[in-house]
Amino acid sequence: MMFVIIVLLTLLSHAPALDVCPKCGNMEVPYPLSTSDNCGNPRYRIYCNSGALEFLSAQGFYYRILSINPSVRKLVISPPLIVKNTCCSSDLSLGGLSLNENSSFNISTHNTVMLFNCSDNILLSPLNCSSTSFCRQYEEVGEGSGCKGTLCCHFLKDTAMTSHRIRVRAGGCTAYTSVVDIKPGDPIDRWNYGIELQWLPPL
Ligand SMILES: *[C@@H]1O[C@H](CO)[C@@H](O)[C@H](O)[C@H]1NC(C)=O
Ligand SMILES: *[C@@H]1O[C@H](CO)[C@@H](O)[C@H](O)[C@H]1NC(C)=O
Ligand SMILES: *[C@@H]1O[C@H](CO)[C@@H](O)[C@H](O)[C@H]1NC(C)=O
Ligand SMILES: *[C@@H]1O[C@H](CO)[C@@H](O)[C@H](O)[C@H]1NC(C)=O
Repeated sequence: MMFVIIVLLTLLSHAPALDVCPKCGNMEVPYPLSTSDNCGNPRYRIYCNSGALEFLSAQGFYYRILSINPSVRKLVISPPLIVKNTCCSSDLSLGGLSLNENSSFNISTHNTVMLFNCSDNILLSPLNCSSTSFCRQYEEVGEGSGCKGTLCCHFLKDTAMTSHRIRVRAGGCTAYTSVVDIKPGDPIDRWNYGIELQWLPPL
């Protein structure tokens, strides 16, 4: 009897820390995502701040997590606010979104990124800066209205691009937003604003 108890205790104390993290606010935190050292896998760290799940960029900016789909290993974060009455993203001083090259997360290929208030040399790039670009519609809505009339462009962030950053800077483009799985012809009120990230399967 004593032997059995000792074996059980030994097993329990050596159990790997594979616990699923508790809910954050009303959102589940599926494994391997980790909100603390005591649960999940530390390579998949996210943050539960005041009941809201957040993703921390390499530059130290927190992006709100809007949804998580563990079966396809994806989560969607909120694009940063465009500061009211300006055409500047709130992460502009940090150069936009960047993930560590070694991060367990990358930016998926389902994001259509729109850049605003760009300098003229963006026209040398293959981005779509035409008068029919999706970005022209965004300028008509509340948050984009500070960017009205600026040079703007959009592009699908696919495999031809770095999957670890969305860059903005003074003298380049100063604001951005992103829509997941945009379809031509979708009315703007059906756009699914967000930046979809993907995570690598745990080893
Ligand atoms: C990424 O990983 C490589 C190899 O493990 C290491 O040499 C490099 O310093 C890491 N880079 C960062 C930014 O952590
Ligand atoms: C730019 O994007 C719009 C909206 O998707 C599309 O209708 C148009 O053909 C694109 N223009 C170019 C030059 O690719
Ligand atoms: C556009 O970008 C320039 C710097 O490149 C900045 O000085 C200007 O304030 C920006 N415009 C708006 C409306 O924010
Ligand atoms: C991101 O990581 C996933 C999972 O390893 C990989 O399949 C995908 O190709 C990567 N995406 C990009 C755009 O590099």
